[in-house]
Amino acid sequence: MELPFAESYRIKMIEPIRRSTRAEREQWIKEAKYNLFNLKSEYVFVDLLTDSGTGAMSDRQWSEMMLGDESYAGASSFFKFKDAIREIMGFEYVLPTHQGRAAENVLFSVLIKEGDLVPGNSHFDTTKGHIEYRKAKAVDCTIDEAFDTTLVHPFKGNVDLGKLEKVLKENGNKVSFIVLTITCNSSGGQPVSIENMKGVRKLADEYGKKIVMDSARFAENAYFIKMREEGYGSKSIREIVLEMFSYADAVTMSAKKDAIVNIGGFIAMRDKELYNSASVFEIMYEGYLTYGGLAGRDLSAIAQGLHEATEFDYLETRVKQVEYLGNKLLGFGIPIQQPIGGHAIFVDAKRFLPQVKKEECIAQTLAIHLYIEAGIRGVEIGSILADRDPVTRENRYPELELMRLAIPRRVYTNNHMDLIAVALKNIWDKRNTIRTGFRIVREAPIMRHFTVELEKV
Ligand code: F0G
Repeated sequence: MELPFAESYRIKMIEPIRRSTRAEREQWIKEAKYNLFNLKSEYVFVDLLTDSGTGAMSDRQWSEMMLGDESYAGASSFFKFKDAIREIMGFEYVLPTHQGRAAENVLFSVLIKEGDLVPGNSHFDTTKGHIEYRKAKAVDCTIDEAFDTTLVHPFKGNVDLGKLEKVLKENGNKVSFIVLTITCNSSGGQPVSIENMKGVRKLADEYGKKIVMDSARFAENAYFIKMREEGYGSKSIREIVLEMFSYADAVTMSAKKDAIVNIGGFIAMRDKELYNSASVFEIMYEGYLTYGGLAGRDLSAIAQGLHEATEFDYLETRVKQVEYLGNKLLGFGIPIQQPIGGHAIFVDAKRFLPQVKKEECIAQTLAIHLYIEAGIRGVEIGSILADRDPVTRENRYPELELMRLAIPRRVYTNNHMDLIAVALKNIWDKRNTIRTGFRIVREAPIMRHFTVELEKV
């Protein structure tokens, strides 16, 4: 018999979680105004709100925490951090930041001016936010295949080189740089291929532009390249990572994902001039150059985490757990984004609940039902998140209404995955009884999803 797959780690420390009753959950979600962000975490049994900062650190990372050097300037922790980034990602200059969006804030303060264009592949919300805040525009050049959840394509994070070239040709003088998000969160944790990175690099060189990689889940991207791209099967993850970043001029990183820490981020770059310019904003917004909003112990844990996250065994365990859940759901006939991505399952709520009107928050309705069914907290990526048009103030209804189930790293077992799958199947089996959704009764002028209040229709 072929041996079944098993995790490449064992558990040394546990954190109890509490089961609740359906009646309790109905009460709690009502009190939370049907907004899952308003729930106390103790009311949640399996928390899939995000894979960001929710991972379990290893014994070695906790050891590094104890070795943290808390000197204000020149701490040994900073040099461990800098060396890890140089060795693994190949960049000479580094600035630590408190998280990913802070890296965007510092770097974009140098690179973006009013009226600029920043083409890329489905920019993440905070990336887009930091572009738009500077009165510039994020231009989405993702391949069209990414928006059809049923279509299987190995690299749905890819940039459509035709779309990118059009932007460069028509408005090249306005383009500040190109963003490549690896893996692409907004399109479902989908990877970008090396071939595509080479194509983007070629265009960038032709038009004299920089490439910034938004690298939150870069190791998962490298894993998919190894598994799916011709010519990369026998390369190590580290070799692939170095090749990926050889096509970038700079990276912004949320270490809360693929450095498996609870807080942290950084900017890494090749160019000393860029580093010098960014250093000014670093000191203003984040802190001195060798700590940037983090404790020394955080820098040490990131350095160790980067080594662990780029080991094949870790990545295989990680991605296979997400696949395990996805395949269970597919087996039940539940519509999800395919192929299964690196960090999360994206359930296609429009195909799950076609009878619910678009004005009634389709993906949020599904997420509320899943919480009531089993205490599982997912997140809406649909019309609530899409918000209103800033000019017309009309509600925007995106092409896709998704419920994201993000899997924290090294936290849950496959028994939890089984529970999630069956809970969702129970809703799938009674989906025809869900005729109506929820309406918004209170919302903030921007980023409304965090604080929105809803009622039953
Ligand atoms: N880039 C990507 C692709 C992300 O997914 C995130 C965060 C960021 C940048 C910003 O990083 O949170 O450290 O400031 N994504 C989280 C999520 C919040 O749930 O997907 P941050």
